[in-house]
Amino acid sequence: MGNSSKLSLIFLCIFSLLIFHGVCTEFEVGESLTKGWEVPPLKRPQVYNDWAQKNRFKVNDTLHFKYKKDSVMVVSDAEYSKCGSSQPLFFANTGDTTFVLDRPGLFYFLSGVAGHCQRGQKMIIKVLDVESPPAPGDDQQSGDDTAAPDTDKKSGATHNNNNKIGFVGFIFMLIVGFNFI
Ligand SMILES: *[C@@H]1O[C@H](CO)[C@@H](O)[C@H](O)[C@H]1NC(C)=O
Repeated sequence: MGNSSKLSLIFLCIFSLLIFHGVCTEFEVGESLTKGWEVPPLKRPQVYNDWAQKNRFKVNDTLHFKYKKDSVMVVSDAEYSKCGSSQPLFFANTGDTTFVLDRPGLFYFLSGVAGHCQRGQKMIIKVLDVESPPAPGDDQQSGDDTAAPDTDKKSGATHNNNNKIGFVGFIFMLIVGFNFI
């Protein structure tokens, strides 16, 4: 009967979308050392850039910022260095922000609350080009984070668990899809 074959067709489409568009990852910003997006602890002012460097971001991945009485801004390279912007490219202060990394290249994040960025609440996210694998000799980092090999390896417990959405969605489709085929 036509109904179930129609459904299989729908699921086939969803499958191919998932497969050809890749599965996007949502990253929870921050390490166990921080409660989401906040002023870093004094001993680890680089915590967000450290976190960023441990992860690989691709186009259409999302960053999830959880925070209280703070804000998230995306600014230009120059504004990042100055720790401020009057006209950010992106601004949110709802406490719960999901940002889509919608292009390859660099994104500059900082807190819009006075003084927070100066204390380290900022980070650079590098989104990999879809086509080319990461270049081996890229040293586009902000410079000030190359020094101290601060050995806080314990907190390397990055929140790398975030394939949830894509993976669970995929399994769900698999199960539902097979019921109809
Ligand atoms: C990212 O998402 C947009 C909108 O959904 C889509 O048009 C684009 O093809 C996607 N890019 C990649 C690399 O998946």
